[in-house]
Amino acid sequence: MAYSAPRGTVDIINQAPKWQQLEQLLRTVCAYYNVSEMRTPIFEHTELFNRAVGDTTDVVSKEMYTFQDKKGRSITLRPEGTAGVARSFVENKLFANPEKLQKYYYMGPMFRYERPQNGRQRQFHQFGVEMLGVESPYIDVECMVMAVSIVESLGLKDVKLHINSLGDEESREAYREALKEHFKPALKDLCYDCNQRFEKNPLRILDCKVDRAHESMKDAPKTIDYLSESAKAHFDKVCSLLDDLEIEYVLDVNLVRGLDYYSHTVFEVISDDKKLGTGSTVGGGGRYSSLISELGGPEVTGVGFAFGMERLLIAAGDGLNEEEGLDVYVMPLGDEARDLSVQIVTMLRANGFSCDMDYCERGLKGQFKSADRFDAHFSMIIGEEEVKNEVVNMKCNHSKEQTVVKLENIVSFIDEHYGEGDHHE
Ligand code: HAM
Repeated sequence: MAYSAPRGTVDIINQAPKWQQLEQLLRTVCAYYNVSEMRTPIFEHTELFNRAVGDTTDVVSKEMYTFQDKKGRSITLRPEGTAGVARSFVENKLFANPEKLQKYYYMGPMFRYERPQNGRQRQFHQFGVEMLGVESPYIDVECMVMAVSIVESLGLKDVKLHINSLGDEESREAYREALKEHFKPALKDLCYDCNQRFEKNPLRILDCKVDRAHESMKDAPKTIDYLSESAKAHFDKVCSLLDDLEIEYVLDVNLVRGLDYYSHTVFEVISDDKKLGTGSTVGGGGRYSSLISELGGPEVTGVGFAFGMERLLIAAGDGLNEEEGLDVYVMPLGDEARDLSVQIVTMLRANGFSCDMDYCERGLKGQFKSADRFDAHFSMIIGEEEVKNEVVNMKCNHSKEQTVVKLENIVSFIDEHYGEGDHHE
C-alpha cells in the first residue's frame, strides 16, 4: 500500500527555511511589542470551543476534528487559538497578575475540516496575539498597528486593514432584533441552516455561503447603525487613534467575522495579491468582551488577532530570502582523509561554523556538486598528500582562490578570509 498525507495537510520540506524566517520575524515583532509566548494544548475539551467560538458558527458546527478519547471524553483538535488562551487565562488566574494587561502570542497548527485550496488547508498554522485584561480602545489599536507592521515587515503589497464595530451587549441586542425583523419575510426562501440561525443567532445568517446572493442579504441592517452611545464612543476613539497614527483603514460595515465571541471592534487584513487571489483574508481579529466571564473568569475583556501563516508565506513570495549556505563543505578523498575530516568537522562545529562533509566516498566532481547545492563558502579538499603533510586545501567558492592551510591554522584562516558579513553569527 502506498501511503499519502491526509487531504488538506502538507509536508514542509524545502520551505522549512522560509518558515523559520517567518517565525523569527514574528518573534522579533512580539519582543518589540512586549508580547510573550504562551503554548496551549493542541487539543481541548470540545465544550470549550462550543462555548467560546459558538455552536452556530461554521467552525464549530461543520469544521471541527472531534473524537472521543479512550475514556469517552469528547476532545477537539483546536480550530483556532483564542479559546485555549482564554481558558488558560481563567484556569491559571492570570487576571490576578499585578500587571493588569497580559499580552500573549502563539504560533502552531490549527485544524479545520474545510475544502482545501490555495491558502486553505485542514491542518494549517496560525500566528496569533491576545491582549487581555484592559478594555481601552488603545489596545484595539495596538493590535491593529501590530498586525499592520507585520504585513509591512514581510513586504506584503496590496493589503488593506478593514475595520468595523459590532458594539457592546446593548448594541448587539438591538441589532439582533433588527436582523430578525429584516429576515423574517425572507425566511421561507432561505436555507434550513439560516432558519435555524434565525432563532439562535441571526448574525450568522450574514455569513451563509448558500444564501449569499439572496436579495435580502443586500439591504440587511448594518451593525454600525445600532451602536449604543458608549460603543460608538469606543469605536470613534479607535478610528481617531488610527487617524493620528496615520494607519490607513477601510470602514467595512459588512464585516462581522465568523466567530461568536466578538463585540466592539473587529478587523481583517485583506490582501489583493494575485498569488493568494483577490480579496483573501490573511488575518483577522477583534475584541471579545464576554468570553472570559463565560469561561468562568471575571468580567475582563480581551482583544487579539491571528494570521494564517501559510497565507503570509504565499503573499510574501520572494520577500523572505532563502537560508544562508554552509560555511565549509569538507571533501575527503580516501579512508585516511575521511578519518581526518570527521575530526575537522567536529572541531569546526565546536568553533561555531556550520559545516558538513562527504560520507558517500565519491570523487571530487560529485563532492563539488554537493558544495554547490549547500552553497558552501569554502570547499575543503583533503587528499592523501594533504593528510601526509598535515594540511588542507581551502577553496573559496566565491573568489575561486585556493590556499594550502596547516591543520592548526584552519580556524584562524576562515576567520581572516571570510568576506565581511558572510559568516553565520
Ligand atoms: P479566523 O479569521 O478564523 O480568526 O482565522 C484567522 C486566520 O487564519 C484567517 O484570516 C486565515 O488567514 C487563517 N485561516 C483560517 N482558516 C484557515 C485554513 N483552513 N487554512 C489556512 N489558513 C486559515 C481566528 O481564528 C481568531 N482566533 C483570531 C483572533 C484572535 N481573534 C481574536 N484573537
